[in-house]
Amino acid sequence: APSADFVVVANRLPVDLDHGVDGERRWTASPGGLVSALEPFLRSRKGAWVGWPGVPDVEVAEFDDDGLVLHPVSLTAAEVRDYYEGFSNATLWPLYHDVVAPPVFDRSWWDSYVRVNRRFAEASAAVAAHGATVWIQDYQLQLVPAMLRELRPDLRIGFFLHIPFPPVELFMQLPWRAEIVRGLIGADLIGFHRPGGAQNFLWLARQLVGLEPTRGAVGVRSRPGMVQVGDRTVRVGAFPISIDAAGLDTLARSKSVVERAKQLRADLGNPKAVLLGVDRLDYTKGIDLRLQALHELLHEERVKPEDVTFVQLATPSRERVEHYQRMRGEIEQMVGRINGEFARVGHPVVHYLHQSVDRTELAAFFSAADVMVVTPLRDGMNLVCKEYVATRADLGGALVLSEFAGAASELTSAFLVNPHDLDGVKNALEAAITLDPAEGRRRMRAMRRQVLTHDVDRWARSFLQALGAEPVD
Ligand code: G6P
Repeated sequence: APSADFVVVANRLPVDLDHGVDGERRWTASPGGLVSALEPFLRSRKGAWVGWPGVPDVEVAEFDDDGLVLHPVSLTAAEVRDYYEGFSNATLWPLYHDVVAPPVFDRSWWDSYVRVNRRFAEASAAVAAHGATVWIQDYQLQLVPAMLRELRPDLRIGFFLHIPFPPVELFMQLPWRAEIVRGLIGADLIGFHRPGGAQNFLWLARQLVGLEPTRGAVGVRSRPGMVQVGDRTVRVGAFPISIDAAGLDTLARSKSVVERAKQLRADLGNPKAVLLGVDRLDYTKGIDLRLQALHELLHEERVKPEDVTFVQLATPSRERVEHYQRMRGEIEQMVGRINGEFARVGHPVVHYLHQSVDRTELAAFFSAADVMVVTPLRDGMNLVCKEYVATRADLGGALVLSEFAGAASELTSAFLVNPHDLDGVKNALEAAITLDPAEGRRRMRAMRRQVLTHDVDRWARSFLQALGAEPVD
């Protein structure tokens, strides 16, 4: 009998099945902010997690991963192409990120999205105990709430969107816009990062499904707006996600991380300023823009190549999707160009790693960086900038942050930039590089106060309280 009282449903499991060169299978940590935020929380709850193991055509039985029960959902190669790479990441992803790249509308991708969403709904229904709470995550699974409600009206269903919810004019382009809204309102609570997303959704629910908002300040944290769907009330609100701030703070203070950070700086030749970018290699992240800003600063001799080192860690992501391939080519060309013009033998200006880096090594990079550069054109929240702040108990370092990341409304003491304004980005980089240490400490202290008091546990609890799945404290 289904036995889990608390179930998370996400496209990916928190671990990815990897095939080593020897053909041997091993599990590695999944990429992205969703997993890094939710995994520590769910582990503390001993919940169940329904998701895809990250490779096509494998059947894996459910298994216990250190107290967390994982329920793999398998996808065929065609479904990976149509549902995941296609509809999720070449239609919804660019559409929801302000059409930074043109979204592709393909009817066969949509059919695959519907079929796979149904499989996730069925898998969740088979796992959840009577009256359980099921928390569905992100844009890949927007039809699951309504499908699951039909199968299991006894469940308490939450949905959270980890990426931006777009302006209504953009959402209206989607041929399946009404189906998506109907899918989402199967949930009891629909959460977004920002009040604007909640507001947009409520407007669309009225326009496309004829639902009237009933009451409440829309999108205010813990006081969600509502719509009436038959005899059900669906709540809609904003819940800005965060990180395991205390865990990262502790990790960054550990001897091994402190020493590794020193080692990294030495390996980089102890330059005056280490600049750092950490992103999935994604065209929304503005990696090309920050490289261009650096190139111009070097060219104009506003920064000297011997004074700065830029480290870009770019986690491989969605490598078979065309736009990702193109962006990768462009970035690698720019890295080559900057080093070609400004490096000396043994001293590249840009260090570029197209690799994933584990948590401890990442904490060391954060600790070693004088300037963290986060310049997405659009980002739901962006957790990397919060992670950077959490590792800086020494109050060192500076953050250059795009206004178009959700985190910008919390981290107001960062150097906030419009990433489309290249001169503005250059000025901010220069200001961050030459920042007066006392002023830097003041800024970092303010940002740390926000991040350490608004961690992922608080985020999850406030969502689950609004869902009625957790007592209000
Ligand atoms: C973002 C999305 C997640 C996704 C992650 C990694 O954080 O919001 O849903 O899992 O990117 O992307 P991937 O396509 O590799 O799962």
